[in-house]
Order: sequence, then structure tokens, then C-alpha cells
Amino acid sequence: MLAGRHIIVTAGPTHEPIDPVRYIANRSSGKQGFAIAGALAARGAQVTLVAGPVMLPTPPGVDRVDVETALEMSEAVDAALPADAAVMVAAVADWRVAPSAQKIKKGTSGPPVLRLVENPDILATLARDPRRPRLVVGFAAETEHVVDHARAKLARKGSDWIVANDVSGDVMGGDANSIHIVSVDGVESWERLPKDEVAARLADRIAAALA
Ligand code: C5P
Repeated sequence: MLAGRHIIVTAGPTHEPIDPVRYIANRSSGKQGFAIAGALAARGAQVTLVAGPVMLPTPPGVDRVDVETALEMSEAVDAALPADAAVMVAAVADWRVAPSAQKIKKGTSGPPVLRLVENPDILATLARDPRRPRLVVGFAAETEHVVDHARAKLARKGSDWIVANDVSGDVMGGDANSIHIVSVDGVESWERLPKDEVAARLADRIAAALA
């Protein structure tokens, strides 16, 4: 179904160092992105999975590139081009800290102030790149106004689809997901499904879009 297609998938959180021993992270488990990478590979695609720090096994047939920070993820995605499709599932940190070269010591002058710098938006950058894959899919984790926010994100990011997850329940780290696929053609809402089943259906839809 997807033989001869190269697809980039990003998954997991990023870790943004504060100093040599501390970092800022988020609760992304990487499960949905890994399941999508596996489902695409099972359909014959050559998959490059750019993974943030997670403790998950590499799905069979997937080429995995491990990264830690958003900047490393951005470079790994760039290095993986060209591709027929990109599915950006990672929960990339919006900000990084201008890190301290030495461990920050507890002092008498009170808690340190962390100065945050904006990270590159990997999805938006890719969607506007001259080497843009034919199909660019973004994800959106929302707790309210899920579809409205996804429509706004579709325009802002320049992706072809936004797969919006309702994360108001226990989706992050959980095994099920309820999603809406938002594109210029409209909205398709799926019932709450196990993440593996979401991955399988999405892979079929991606295969159809690339056919
Ligand atoms: O803006 P927000 O983080 O909600 O957008 C989520 C989508 O954008 C996801 O597909 C995520 O992988 C992608 N993203 C990215 N680089 C960032 C932030 C988000 O690729 N710095």
C-alpha cells in the first residue's frame, strides 16, 4: 500500500535543558506517534521516526532517530527530507531555556529566573519549506473548543490536516484517543478508539491520500 513512500513521523516530548542536570519536559508518552510509525511501516512505507526521550520499543521496520531537544528534532527532520509525507505527532516544547553551563546552585539571592526563548515550529517550518512533503499532518492537543482550535491551527501551521485530540480526559499517557481530522474539506470525527486502532485508520487514510 505504501511501498516506495518515505514518511517522517515525530513523536514523544522534547527535553529542554536548564543546566547539566535539570530539564523542562512534558507528559507526552510517545505512544500515539510510535503506533502511527508502526502502522505506516506495516503498510510498506519507509518510516523515519524522530523520537524525543521515551522508553518505548522501536516498531518493526522503522528507522528511528533519537533526539532530546526541539532544536535537535528540527535538525533531524530536516536531515530526513525528502519525504512523501510527514506526520508531526511530537509534543515539542514551545520554549527552551538559555541554559547554564554549570549546575545552578541554591543561593541566598532567592530562586533563579529562567529566561525562555521560543523554539522553532518544526511543523510550520516544514509546511512552508520548498521541499515540503506532499502531505503534511499536524496534531493538536486541546481541552476545549477542539475543532475550532484545530481549524485555526490548520491555517496557522499550513498543514494539510490537523488531527485534533481531546485531551480533557486521560489521553496523555493513556491507551485510547478520541480524534477529529480537520482539513480544508471539513471535519471527520472518530469515536474513542485504542491508539493502535487510531494509528491503523490514520495509516490507511494517509495511504489513500498518497495513492
Ligand atoms: O502549536 P501546537 O504546539 O499546539 O501545535 C501542535 C502541532 O505542531 C503538532 O503537530 C506538533 O508536533 C507541532 N509542533 C512542532 N514544533 C513546535 C511546536 C509544535 O512541530 N515547536
